[in-house]
This record gives sequence, structure tokens and C-alpha cells, in this order.
Amino acid sequence: MTLLARTGARYARILGVGRALPSRVVDNAEMCTYIDSSDEWIRQRTGIVERRWIADGESVETLARDASLEAIANSGVAPADIDAVIVSTVSYFHQTPGLAPKLAFQLGAIGAAAYDISAACAGFCYAIAQAEALIRSGAATHVLVVGAETLSRLTDLSDRSTAFLFADGAGAVVIGPSDVNGISPVVWGSDGEAGPTIHQATDWEGAVRDQTWPYIWMDGRQVFRWASGFVADAALDILEKSGLTPDDLDTFIPHQANNRITDAMLRHLKLPEHVKVARSIVNYGNNSAASIPIAMSEMLASGEAKSGDTALIIGFGAGLVYAGQVVTLP
Ligand code: UT7
Repeated sequence: MTLLARTGARYARILGVGRALPSRVVDNAEMCTYIDSSDEWIRQRTGIVERRWIADGESVETLARDASLEAIANSGVAPADIDAVIVSTVSYFHQTPGLAPKLAFQLGAIGAAAYDISAACAGFCYAIAQAEALIRSGAATHVLVVGAETLSRLTDLSDRSTAFLFADGAGAVVIGPSDVNGISPVVWGSDGEAGPTIHQATDWEGAVRDQTWPYIWMDGRQVFRWASGFVADAALDILEKSGLTPDDLDTFIPHQANNRITDAMLRHLKLPEHVKVARSIVNYGNNSAASIPIAMSEMLASGEAKSGDTALIIGFGAGLVYAGQVVTLP
């Protein structure tokens, strides 16, 4: 007996992108009411001027929904034709069921395969790799990929080494079949040995037992070194596996962790002047899995990037994990 197999589209590409930001703006002056810091220090060390936190009536669910609605509208794909939904988040507090099935139902992607992944700040690029593989294998035709976070709920506002950094937001893309390739081979990996570099101070059991909240703790200097060295090398590998050189790029959209990490990557990659670089951290802080699609959406909306541009995207964070691709902007 031979089992039947299937294959899907030859190629995949991003068809539409959307974003959703919470309404509450938290500037550095307000941040300095929580921690011993200064507007000048935060700007110089990270680039951040302000960030967004959820207010009453907003949640990781509403952000994911609003970003998805915009991405679906921009893609021209009917919700009923989306047959897989992947949500990357570390801040949806229901262990089960996941956010993706609920979101698929709310959006009208009735019956779609739907699941959450946990790959922190690399989660969006992990999910893009999955979506591309699902479409090319024939397991799905149109995949909604969402990065949605409310890191404000996991941030210790008395910790001056992280409080100014983390933020809330959501970004989404619809990915579908294409005649020309719009998503390069992924370069990805992990280093679990370095896991303690960014971790939650306790798990949920410990939180209940000891009455402590599972805030995110980070050795910022170590993450900084890893991101500007090892991860920057991975970005070069992405270019090589795409068959491109830095000159071929129009846009660079790294995870918005710190403007100084972005600068270090730029030096490492030797990107030419014409390449537009995402800097959405300035207004939105570090919103983990949401940062790349938010930046992509903003750059397209402002005209800084345009449809058809060739963009290098790369995410990195807790795990440690990293992933990236070259994509054609929708
Ligand atoms: O999202 C994915 C994972 N996360 C990241 O990629 C984040 C990576 N790391 C970073 O972005 C940076 O390490 C931080 C922004 C978190 C910190 O910047 P840094 O340049 O690495 O600062 P540092 O920890 O080396 O501290 C430098 C100085 C220290 O003072 P001394 O010892 O030089 O006198 C700190 O005590 O800055 C001091 N400092 C602060 N000063 C004002 C530390 N935090 C603050 C603060 N305000 N909030």
C-alpha cells in the first residue's frame, strides 16, 4: 500500500500586512517615575522615545484581532479562504486553548488549522518559515501569521535594566501562493544552554506558590553581544542562502530590540546607504514577536518602503532563538 502525498504551490509570498498599537503612550518622563533613569540615558542607549501599553478594553487578543483585520483587508484574501492561522506570542496568559483558534473563529477563518508558537522575539520569522513550508507542501493555501504581545504585563516596573525596553503591540501578515518566490530559505536555530540569559523569574506554579509574578529577567549585555555578533553573522548567511548581496536589498527590518544593536548589525553587514532601515523602536519600544510586522507595516504606510521591495528580516531573543529570511514586501 502506498500512501498518497501532496505538494502545494511552487512558491509563497506575503500578500498583505497590518499592525495594531495600544492607545496608551508611555514616554520616557513617565518611565522615569518608575525607575531611576533619564530620558537622555534611555534615548542614547536604546533609541526609545516612547512606547505603547494596553489600556482598559485592550488586550493581546484585541491587538491580534485588529492587526489581522488590517492584514487581511490589505491582502485581498477572503477570511474564509485562510486555512491556517499561526500566532506567535509569549504573553497570552491562557496556557490552553491557544489564541489562534479563537482568533481564526473571530475573523471568519472558520475551521482553519490554528495554533500558537512560543519563540519570543524570533517568533514572527519562525512562523513565516512555517507558513512558507505549509503552502509549498500543500498543507495550506493562505496562512495568517500574527505576532502579538503585551510585554507590559511581564515587565517588572522596578527593574531598571528592562522596564524602559518592553512594550505592547501586534503585527500580522497573510501569506499565499505565488508564481515567483517571495520568501527565501529560512536561517534559524537555538542555543538552549544560553537560555538563562533571558528568562521568566518563575513559572506559573512558582508564581502561585510563592505569590510572585513571573516577570522577564534579562542579562542585557550578554544578549547585546550575542545579537551584534552571532545573529549578525546569521544575517549574512540569510543573504548568501538567498543568492543576494547587500547591494540587492532595499530594506532591512531587524527585530526592534535596541537601535544600537541595529547599528552594530548594519556595520557587520556593510549595508549600502540606499537600504532603508526599520527604527520603529523609537516610538513603540521592543514588542517582541510583533516588532518586525509592525515596522514593515509602518514603513509601507509612510512610503519609506514600497510594495515589491526586497527586505531582510531577522528576529532574535529568549531561548536563545533566532530566525530570518529575505522577503518581497507586499
Ligand atoms: O528583545 C530581545 C532581547 N533583548 C535585547 O536584545 C536587549 C539587549 N540588550 C540591550 O538592549 C542593552 O543591554 C540594555 C539597553 C538593556 C542596557 O544597555 P547597556 O548599554 O548594555 O547598559 P549596561 O547594562 O551595560 O549598563 C551601563 C550603565 C551602568 O552603569 P555603570 O556601571 O557604567 O556606572 C548601569 O548601572 O548604565 C547603568 N544603567 C542605567 N542608567 C540609567 C543601567 N540601566 C539604567 C537605566 N537608567 N535604566
